[in-house]
Amino acid sequence: MLVTSVGKLRLERPGMVASGIMDETGPSMVRMLRSGAGAVVTKSIGSEPNPGHPNPTFTELKGGYINAMGLPNPGIELFGKEMEVASKSGNIVGSIYGSSPEEFSMLAGKMEEYGAVGVELNLSCPHASGYGMELGTDPAVIRSIVSAVKSAVSIPVWTKLTPNTHMIKDLAIAVYEAGGDAVVAINTVKAMVISPQFGKPILSNKFGGLSGPAIRSIGVRAVFDIRTAVDIPIIGVGGISDWKDAAQYIMAGACAFQIGSAVGTKGIDVFETVHSELERFMKDYGYGSIKDMVGVAHE
Ligand code: DHB
Repeated sequence: MLVTSVGKLRLERPGMVASGIMDETGPSMVRMLRSGAGAVVTKSIGSEPNPGHPNPTFTELKGGYINAMGLPNPGIELFGKEMEVASKSGNIVGSIYGSSPEEFSMLAGKMEEYGAVGVELNLSCPHASGYGMELGTDPAVIRSIVSAVKSAVSIPVWTKLTPNTHMIKDLAIAVYEAGGDAVVAINTVKAMVISPQFGKPILSNKFGGLSGPAIRSIGVRAVFDIRTAVDIPIIGVGGISDWKDAAQYIMAGACAFQIGSAVGTKGIDVFETVHSELERFMKDYGYGSIKDMVGVAHE
């Protein structure tokens, strides 16, 4: 009943682990697959090892988390060892970041070689100079990166979009025009927290990305908007922690969803709980499949 398809990729379960949570080592990704996730999206991986920003990089606030890790990762060569362990156990989608179409294409090719079932282009990190949303708020840049990656690999190419724009529909249209297989909406919302006692921003990077329940209604609105603009598979993400949140994203137009912050607040059982409660809801309300529920809020 929970089976879904994101374009050509079939998933037994619609809920996957969002990039950045329990997804930087082979064993942690295996653990998430065993805990009931339909797929795991890796931490975003770049060309070279990157230590990330100095601490503080993360803090909790009412309604969510704010972080500016600075894209810490071991680099694509070393990450092969983690992928070797994880890709044997289930669906791993490789999240990648780069600064040019060539760099994204190289990284995507490596992820394909490592057994990823798809790649997710991080064109939406809100605080990395020369990367992320600095590239992903320009439709022409999105088109050039997505079309280069599409020519470089044969696995599905997803693009994670930023909500930090007034034109998310145009960004999704750019992905579609370049032949992208799906959009993932949304990444974190650019935000800041100041400590009154210290009289300065808490994060070493000053600003970061807000995630968790506080951004859910922004994400649901973004998915709804994209669905009205372009016929491309949408993966919903942002503040999902229970079946009602997941159902909202699906009814707005998503065929699958991702959970990030709630793995922190609720633990890894969140996948089992969300999936079983979503199935219960579908039975009670007469939805025979996820497909039957996708986009019903538009009707
Ligand atoms: C980081 C990357 C992101 O894409 C994001 O949304 C938040 C944080 C990071 O590693 O800093």
